[in-house]
Amino acid sequence: MTRWRRRRRAADADAPTAAPGVSATAGSKAAERDMVNPVAIRAEFALPPEAYAPIPDDAARAGVSNIRRIVPFVGRAGELGALKAAFAGAGEVVVHAVHGLGGVGKSALAAHWAATRDEQVRWWITAEDPTKVDAGLSALARALHPGLVGLPAELQTQRALAWLAGHDDWLLVLDNVEDPAHIDLLLDGVGGRGRVLVTTRRATGWHRHATTIRLGVLESADALDLFTRILTHQGPREVEGAAAVCAEPGHLALAVEQAAAYCAQTGTAPRAYLDMLDRWPAAMFAAAATNGDSRRTVARIWNLTLDRLADTPFAGELLRILAWYAPRPHPPHSPRPLGAPPTWPPRSADSSPTA
Ligand SMILES: Nc1ncnc2c1ncn2[C@@H]1O[C@H](COP(=O)(O)OP(=O)(O)OP(=O)(O)O)[C@@H](O)[C@H]1O
Ligand SMILES: [Mg+2]
Repeated sequence: MTRWRRRRRAADADAPTAAPGVSATAGSKAAERDMVNPVAIRAEFALPPEAYAPIPDDAARAGVSNIRRIVPFVGRAGELGALKAAFAGAGEVVVHAVHGLGGVGKSALAAHWAATRDEQVRWWITAEDPTKVDAGLSALARALHPGLVGLPAELQTQRALAWLAGHDDWLLVLDNVEDPAHIDLLLDGVGGRGRVLVTTRRATGWHRHATTIRLGVLESADALDLFTRILTHQGPREVEGAAAVCAEPGHLALAVEQAAAYCAQTGTAPRAYLDMLDRWPAAMFAAAATNGDSRRTVARIWNLTLDRLADTPFAGELLRILAWYAPRPHPPHSPRPLGAPPTWPPRSADSSPTA
């Protein structure tokens, strides 16, 4: 029995209703129960009548989606083809875990692909833990049926699940699932209807759930394309050195985007950025553009991963040893004097950061 079903029983033990989790609001019944539990009954009367019925079958007739198109989106033709092929069949829930390194582009791929689909309901759920999965489902219930707004979130979640279990023309994207067990109950609850796409950083544990598509870093030409499009968004700019900037963090999409946004916003030329990256790598990988998300910088994402190693000291030790085998030689001009990170906005690549 699912978590949602268990809760429903507990919440509605005495509810004489067809709608999951909510009692009918017939006056006489309500009056009868008012004697028993006046608080509950007053709460019932505060809700509009449609809150007591299931979400209507045609609630998604005009289309319901919270998925934003990724602009600009580059490359990934192979992965998009693989997704299309995997989702071509009808029937069973299809779950695909697009897994890979933080910042590699899993969510972007999922969003771009989902935005091209034509299911009546296309719904994105940030699914890092079961609470967020529940929150995403209750938001879907409200989007399908705004009359449910005053209902307790748990009952909204049940309503969404009941609607999904009764329909096929929907797609859920469960983004950043940390543990396959966190979505077992949802998949049980929808009973094989619709489509589900999962993104996760976790590479293992999906054999029971999903066909997995492993996502690597961007092709070098695509990384350069992304960098150039962001850099030149507001007009022509110096692009010499852009390919080298993309190569420096190994064509990781997040790093390419971060570098391009920094260069675009600060007027830094790619060559100068490369020099700054060489002098102050930690500071530059942590530098978000002013309108960027400071929680989504390369430094933050890598630190999240490295923090996980804190519980396994041997893994940290091993990484430090392996770092000596890095493909790049140590820069010939090293060691440099220690300096402060670049000022904002930077004066120029050659000026002293502390001046
Ligand atoms: N193919 C692409 N085209 C354009 N931009 C992309 C592409 N792939 C990724 N990006 C951009 O790079 C950034 C990082 O990508 P994304 O958030 O999808 O990574 P992720 O793999 O989901 O990371 P995390 O594991 O941290 O969730 C995003 O801002 C995204 O828009
Ligand atoms: Mg993501």
